[in-house]
Amino acid sequence: MQGTTREGEGGRRVADVCRAAAQRLTKAGLEDGESVARQAVAFLLGCSVPDLHRRALEPWPAAASLRLEDALDRLAAHEPPAYVFGDAEFRGHRIVVDARVLVPRPETEQLVQAVLDDASLWSRETVQIADVCTGSGCIAVALALEQPRARVVAIDVSEEALAVARLNVIAHGLEDRVRLVQGEWLADLPDEKFDAVVSNPPYVTDAEWCALPPRVRAHEPRLALVGGADGLDAYRFIAPQAYRALLRGGRIFLEIGAFQSDLVSAIVAAAGFSGIQYYQDYQGRDRWVTATKP
Ligand SMILES: C[S@@+](CC[C@H](N)C(=O)[O-])C[C@H]1O[C@@H](n2cnc3c(N)ncnc32)[C@H](O)[C@@H]1O
Repeated sequence: MQGTTREGEGGRRVADVCRAAAQRLTKAGLEDGESVARQAVAFLLGCSVPDLHRRALEPWPAAASLRLEDALDRLAAHEPPAYVFGDAEFRGHRIVVDARVLVPRPETEQLVQAVLDDASLWSRETVQIADVCTGSGCIAVALALEQPRARVVAIDVSEEALAVARLNVIAHGLEDRVRLVQGEWLADLPDEKFDAVVSNPPYVTDAEWCALPPRVRAHEPRLALVGGADGLDAYRFIAPQAYRALLRGGRIFLEIGAFQSDLVSAIVAAAGFSGIQYYQDYQGRDRWVTATKP
């Protein structure tokens, strides 16, 4: 009998496998064990999570069992699901991710929306944007896919992160509009001028890092998350460098940690920016600072 149709392992069905996987992950301490289990099963069956309801009574393909065990082992060790499945969804775009980059967060989807909604930016035929700290390239890729006028220079200090960003730029066919540069913040682009600088930099404090859940602390790159003792190191570099790199009237968009808005605003103001504004995320926490180079 063919592995993909055989009712292996005592005739288990898809619903039985989902239930057992959820029990295992919940026992391993995953708060979202049930939903992650459904994602794992859907991933292995090559279907969507909602499709699992329709397939609940189908026999579980025994040929998928080894891969499921491997995925569950990794998930039970609190590895982020996006690393196990190899990609994440960002504003509806598939973004390849692995342990070399941060898993894109929903807050950052809203940062991209703030840039796209900024009417002052998009009147020009082409808009030059620097995405500082690009990681997987999610911000650069989303901006380029959603706004044909965008030309993005995506910068990261990590060669490993840039290798992942390259996969994403190529997968979305954006090689002519997204350029990847290895460098420290904007310091390695002294002669380039931009209409906007966007960044989701590392902003977790050293103390917060120690308290992060195992899924983050044990698996995601520390370099992507920690911004020094007070979490603000990156802003101290990026704000003055962005001021220098922006054209007059150019805009800066910075993602920030909860409770950092006053401190980051002060850094941005000291760099010379005006018109400083905060925006809140869906939980009502200050999440972005935007400002203009006068
Ligand atoms: C919070 S992650 C953001 C990744 C991605 N933009 C996102 O929003 O998911 C921060 C990124 O900053 C990069 N980084 C850390 N220090 C840097 C530096 N000195 N210069 C440039 N990039 C840096 C890290 O490698 C990491 O990819």
